[in-house]
Amino acid sequence: MSSAATADGDYSLLVRSSSHLAALHGAVLDRVRTSLGARFGEVEIISTIPSVTDFAFRGTAYGRPVVIKCSYGGLSIARLMHLVARGVDVQRMADERRESLPFSPEAMSLRWLSDVLGEHNIYVPQVLHDDGDVVIMEDLGVAGGGHQPFRESVNNLWPALSALWRRTARTDAMRRVVRINAEKSIEAIFRRKFRSRDILRATRDDFADPNDWAVFAGLRDAISGTYPLVDTRIRLIYGDLKPEHLLFRRGTLSLIDPALRLGSPAEDMARFLIRAACASDGEDARSYSAECIESAEKTVAELPRRKVLRFMAMDWLNIISTWHLRRRAYRARATLTPAERRQGVLLQRSLLRASAVDVMELTWELSACMESQEEKVE
Ligand SMILES: Nc1ncnc2c1ncn2[C@@H]1O[C@H](COP(=O)(O)OP(=O)(O)O)[C@@H](O)[C@H]1O
Ligand SMILES: [Mg+2]
Repeated sequence: MSSAATADGDYSLLVRSSSHLAALHGAVLDRVRTSLGARFGEVEIISTIPSVTDFAFRGTAYGRPVVIKCSYGGLSIARLMHLVARGVDVQRMADERRESLPFSPEAMSLRWLSDVLGEHNIYVPQVLHDDGDVVIMEDLGVAGGGHQPFRESVNNLWPALSALWRRTARTDAMRRVVRINAEKSIEAIFRRKFRSRDILRATRDDFADPNDWAVFAGLRDAISGTYPLVDTRIRLIYGDLKPEHLLFRRGTLSLIDPALRLGSPAEDMARFLIRAACASDGEDARSYSAECIESAEKTVAELPRRKVLRFMAMDWLNIISTWHLRRRAYRARATLTPAERRQGVLLQRSLLRASAVDVMELTWELSACMESQEEKVE
């Protein structure tokens, strides 16, 4: 138990932005070190993985490299910040939640997923420990794998996901986990944030430019115009499918950070495409995004187009109002970049004429917006 965690990036900004959170961070680290140290021989924490949602670390345990993901009573950092700001006694809340949920939804999702995906040559990191607050899993390493092999193996992804999409939650434990993970659906996040028509109130304080509000308002109207959509296929879905959760290591495609829940496969696809087109974090994800979009073509054609479009637009708004905003919050009030404005307008137009829109073409156009912006910057 020697080295201290080093925090960097967005993560430390968030942690340092609240003394409560700094204390929680310390408490989480202490817990990993003291209560798990005995069980694992020695748990050494080497570095902090930047994360806005969880307390995540790289380290060693059992003498092997591991990734350690911690929550505080199952509450994410974002949730904690929100609760702390409202004066909620998070410690008591966390204790109550620990009692009612002695395992982590992420660890359970990883375990179930490995059953389904194993047959399709897709790997899921092995969970070595899970006590609800602390999940220790094998570290798959950091090296990339080159484009060509990635391009070939990402094609395995869609048959594997189709197999997942044919399943449903069968046991009581599964039903509990999918209920908890339902909080993370695009629709649930959107409702929490914007409470349908309050989207302008939610964004006006943060985005100063009326041109930005026009983009948000246009999208809001287009999204509510597509309602109601009848859900015909409620199945097990990945729940947080995005390029940054595809790791290509030692010639094998692995998936991480699932939030299995019941929903529409259109949601998995929508999140994957919108993140590949414009917003994914992580170097791997950025360099692979074109291959990710390409590989999805056949599968997206089998899904209800209006629904995919609607989820894409909602997720885009969710992204813009968190990641984007949070990065800027420490400097000045946010503004959409010209590329993002174009994306917002494109999404709005596509929703309005959903029956005539090709989802793949739209995705390439959204992605081209970002690329043309990069050229300008360079
Ligand atoms: N088992 C793992 N092996 C290797 N890298 C990992 C592993 N788990 C996470 N990572 C790295 O950490 C990053 C964040 O992990 P993730 O599970 O997505 O956390 P978060 O809860 O912050 O989304 C990933 O993008 C990946 O680079
Ligand atoms: Mg993640």
